[in-house]
Amino acid sequence: MPHIRFFKARPEIVVTEGANLMRSLLDASLPVASSCGGDGVCAKCRVRVLEGMEHLSSETELERDLRDRHDYDENERVSCQVSVHGDILIDASYW
Ligand code: FES
Repeated sequence: MPHIRFFKARPEIVVTEGANLMRSLLDASLPVASSCGGDGVCAKCRVRVLEGMEHLSSETELERDLRDRHDYDENERVSCQVSVHGDILIDASYW
């Protein structure tokens, strides 16, 4: 089962293989910025992936469109559009 660790001091969480990243964070009572509720429109839910990018689902066309429109860093992923397949270390500016 994949572990999600956090750059700033927070206990890690364990999720099921293939779990949606944003849903997993919300289920663990972590705040996730959003104005579209996970519909892949706002890109506010993105998190910085410090380790384990290879353990996340590949970037979808929708994510590529969001990246073009919002111009965020390569190590950031839109959490509502990502599934988790292995251990990762992540951060968000507001955590
Ligand atoms: S919550 Fe809006 S794009 Fe993820």
